[in-house]
Amino acid sequence: MVAARLHQRRGRRTVFIAILVLFIFIYYYISHHGISAPPGLESLRLERHMNSNADTSSLKSNCSFDWSKVQFKYPPGPLRQIPTGRPISLPQVQYNFPPETPAAAKTREARRRQVRDLFKKNWASYRKYAWKKDALQPLTAEYKDQFSGWAATLVDALDTLWIMGLRDEFDEAVAAVADIDFGYSSTAAVNMFEVNIRYLGGLLSAYDLSKRDMLLTKAIELGDLLYAGYNTKNRMPVDFIDFARAKSGEGLAVESGVVAASPGTLSMEMTRLSQITGDSKYYDAVSRVMDVFAKGQEWTKIPGLWPMYVSMQTQDVVLGSSFTIAGSVDSLYEYLPKMYALLGGLDPKYDAMSKRFMEAANSTFFFRPMLPGGEDLLMIGSAMVDETGAVIFDPESEHLGCFVGGVYGLAGRLFRRPEWVNHIGSKLTHGCIYAYRSMPTGMMPERYNMIPCESRENCKWNETAFDEGKRLRREWAPHLPKGFTTAKDPRYILRPEAIESVFVMYRITGRQEFQEAAWDMFTAIANGTATEYANAAVLDVTKAEYPLPQEDYMESFWLAETLKYFYLAFSPPDVISLDDYVLNTEAHPFKRPKGAATMRRH
Ligand SMILES: *[C@@H]1O[C@H](CO)[C@@H](O)[C@H](O)[C@H]1NC(C)=O
Ligand SMILES: *[C@@H]1O[C@H](CO)[C@@H](O)[C@H](O)[C@H]1NC(C)=O
Ligand SMILES: *[C@@H]1O[C@H](CO)[C@@H](O)[C@H](O)[C@H]1NC(C)=O
Ligand SMILES: *[C@@H]1O[C@H](CO)[C@@H](O)[C@H](O)[C@H]1NC(C)=O
Repeated sequence: MVAARLHQRRGRRTVFIAILVLFIFIYYYISHHGISAPPGLESLRLERHMNSNADTSSLKSNCSFDWSKVQFKYPPGPLRQIPTGRPISLPQVQYNFPPETPAAAKTREARRRQVRDLFKKNWASYRKYAWKKDALQPLTAEYKDQFSGWAATLVDALDTLWIMGLRDEFDEAVAAVADIDFGYSSTAAVNMFEVNIRYLGGLLSAYDLSKRDMLLTKAIELGDLLYAGYNTKNRMPVDFIDFARAKSGEGLAVESGVVAASPGTLSMEMTRLSQITGDSKYYDAVSRVMDVFAKGQEWTKIPGLWPMYVSMQTQDVVLGSSFTIAGSVDSLYEYLPKMYALLGGLDPKYDAMSKRFMEAANSTFFFRPMLPGGEDLLMIGSAMVDETGAVIFDPESEHLGCFVGGVYGLAGRLFRRPEWVNHIGSKLTHGCIYAYRSMPTGMMPERYNMIPCESRENCKWNETAFDEGKRLRREWAPHLPKGFTTAKDPRYILRPEAIESVFVMYRITGRQEFQEAAWDMFTAIANGTATEYANAAVLDVTKAEYPLPQEDYMESFWLAETLKYFYLAFSPPDVISLDDYVLNTEAHPFKRPKGAATMRRH
């Protein structure tokens, strides 16, 4: 249009210039975006241009270093292309919710508003006292930088702002994101895992929801920074990026041992970045890592599962002898069925890996605890393998494990395994709900013990057995609720995993009991963790001595995950439907590719 008007006014010379400009533009476009995009991705790119937002298009990115220009000592060679082709029609994940009665809608909306109000209070304090810092300290209204000083709480909460409809706050936050300089870090070493799940996950999901160009610009800058973490001899990722050395391109040294979740939780974010940009390099990098896990899966000391510690230096994921599905390994497992969904079912590796681990985890980690009321539910323990190869089970549960109920629910739908939903996911989620409800404060401790029954079918309360169990535990205390032999770490640190599974199970089964449990958890947490400014970790949830002792600590996941899951639990089911989105381990929703119409369940 512009070119045409110039033509009429100024004659032939202008035509020449206009054509030249057009060629330069086309050349620029092709060299930056590539011409061939896998089917299904074109539409995403088109959307991006249609939705680019005028309000924020004038923003300029504060970027003192161009990570895309680093000359790698260890380039990847030929890239593995992100799977193309028509996504498989995966089964419907969410329950077909019937229309709501006006009374039910009224209660639900009132609850939703309370969650939103609490979020707003937190956000206002962050904005006032900790703006652009990584974390607000909720007791003193001081702030703290813990993840390179790139405003972790702000980036992590972007999509929550959007989902809650706080658009003015969102716009202001997007402008602040433009100011973040990924060419500068407040620490010499950058934590690959945390930066990936919180910052890159946060930017990508906020972009998926809002289509603001600046968010994609920043996601690419950060993605290229993280991509420099694969500039290693064997192309395996480092755990911490040496910031200065990474800029030089000289090559980084891979650490000798890391927890498995660290290299195992990079795949969704890098894959989504490749899907959105059409550049397969990010996907290529993580796919090499996931191949190492795939190859080792049958060769570990508990086949199907991976040990807590692995080495990316020697590409060893089989030798370790400590096993858990909670902290240190958790999201490695979580990402397998989620990658299957994110890739539209087009990578069979994730199908096989998911099914294998879910069967092995069920028979290794889950137990039915002996409870005074005889409730039929499951708790999560861990396992060690001794020199003889014997598996020694440890019935110690932690809050971090509570995510797994939701994973069985989701995978049960995706892979058509109803028993995973009803017999495992549901019972695991009820295990966490039970732990919340049993405590006099209504919150679950970080870490505790119960007594496993011999079998899941037959599990009667036996006072003598419980007394014996108590005596074996020096941590037992008379005030603990019956059934608990310890509360080894009695804190609640604003963690999301339990409400995460409650939310997922609610969306999947439609069962009201999950929404009620969500409300009980919310009221208990909102009460016990409240501070003048925001919400704080509680030091001991086993004693109802108000006000509860608190710690000056509020992680960015409180706003990114915990309050988002509570909000979604009380939102209409089409708000972030699990048929449209798959959430990363920091509760950031990524758009799922659309196959032919999703198959409806009847
Ligand atoms: C841009 O980043 C630098 C750090 O490299 C920071 O000092 C500066 O304040 C940022 N600019 C804005 C406008 O925030
Ligand atoms: C889970 O493991 C238990 C105990 O090993 C077993 O009885 C049950 O059949 C398993 N359930 C599923 C769905 O695999
Ligand atoms: C209860 O537990 C004790 C100690 O483990 C055991 O000796 C007893 O047989 C159990 N009672 C029943 C009824 O199972
Ligand atoms: C939390 O509940 C306790 C006990 O009911 C009450 O004393 C306290 O005032 C409540 N705290 C807040 C912040 O609502």
